Amino acid sequence: MPTSAPWDSLWIDLSVATMDGATMDGMATGGADAYGAVADAAVGIKDGRIAFVGRRADLPDLPEALATEVHSGQGGWMTPGLIDCHTHLVYGGNRAREFEMRLNGATYEEIARAGGGILSTVTATRAAGEEALLAATLPRLDSLLAEGVTTVEVKSGYGLDTETETRMLCVARRLAQVRPVEVRTSFLGAHALPPEFKGDPDGYIDRLCAETLPAIAEAGLADAVDAFCEGIGFSVAQTRRVFETARRLGLPVKLHAEQLSNLGGAKLVAEFGGLSADHIEHLDEDGVAAMAAAGTVAVLLPGAFYALRETRMPPVDLLRRHGVPMALSTDNNPGTSPVCSLLLMLSMGCTFFRLTPAEALAGVTRHAARALGLSDRGVVAPGKRADLAVWRIEHPAELAYAIGLNPCMAVVNGGVARRP
Ligand code: NIG
Ligand code: FE
Repeated sequence: MPTSAPWDSLWIDLSVATMDGATMDGMATGGADAYGAVADAAVGIKDGRIAFVGRRADLPDLPEALATEVHSGQGGWMTPGLIDCHTHLVYGGNRAREFEMRLNGATYEEIARAGGGILSTVTATRAAGEEALLAATLPRLDSLLAEGVTTVEVKSGYGLDTETETRMLCVARRLAQVRPVEVRTSFLGAHALPPEFKGDPDGYIDRLCAETLPAIAEAGLADAVDAFCEGIGFSVAQTRRVFETARRLGLPVKLHAEQLSNLGGAKLVAEFGGLSADHIEHLDEDGVAAMAAAGTVAVLLPGAFYALRETRMPPVDLLRRHGVPMALSTDNNPGTSPVCSLLLMLSMGCTFFRLTPAEALAGVTRHAARALGLSDRGVVAPGKRADLAVWRIEHPAELAYAIGLNPCMAVVNGGVARRP
């Protein structure tokens, strides 16, 4: 085996959807270059990074001379590894009973106001130890990883006290030690009002800003700070206080905004230069313009839209017109989106929200990376992390088209290849 080969590994016999340099125009019209496609391609990897992307015919030497490991893509397609940029993957229990209640006519808001909803998951999560939480989370994570996910964001928000929020985020960090995945964490203490602060939301935000968030930041457990700005969540004024604390601690912000009503949360997160505004079914043009000016990504969550049987769509045309990048994610959570398939979100993003398959793929690659503030991944380009997925497909639109089929044949995490 040659030891002087310039690259550690090389992929050949495949096409590549680089998702690099794809224009919004190209994506919206589904043009041939919307995927940044390279046919008869080769991808070289060195030290966990992409060293070469191009035509196989342009390789400077024979494959065996270029890398110690040569992999065949068997005529399929390579894409960036998928990025699930909005999940609540770590929690105890489930809410199947609430699902039955909703089918019998109760609304999500009614259940929440009656003390169920998020608070029932808070009770189950507070009761679960770290090992139990980890064991409950792994099957959900494994389902995502089998479909080519290489980076996942995980939020806290089912503890609502310093101890349990910390435990949730420790479990989230541990996921990256026990599975081949990169984890980004978001502190979502302002998710719901815990029972011990009933009637005193400002008192809860006081504690969150004075104690919980500083402790989480000090322990290095959060990469970002999120909140639920909604009638059944927290007001714009309360969310602003959370964001001011985040800013003081040097943490970027993102927000569950305009999901059930239009409170102006998107404008607020844009004012703080936030990474993303998520859900946004009720977003108006003022909010879209503010996001465009701030470079805030729109994260669309069709799983929650589907499970809540919503009819109001996020303003996709406005987002396109203002050039706001759109990401797509599972929003995996026990209440509104018990979804463990990111590929299914590509299908729903196209069918419900009228994204093109190329926009949907950009939504789980380069735009999802941006929603997490990560500039080192999400495209197949020299210098980027070698996080890649290889698919048994003839055209990348198949990823959004098929339902319940997983064509993932290989995954590369930081240069290391695995079978899903
Ligand atoms: O993203 N909207 C608030 N948070 C979650 C739902 C959480 C839950 O119901 O447990 C969401 O949809
Ligand atoms: Fe969410």
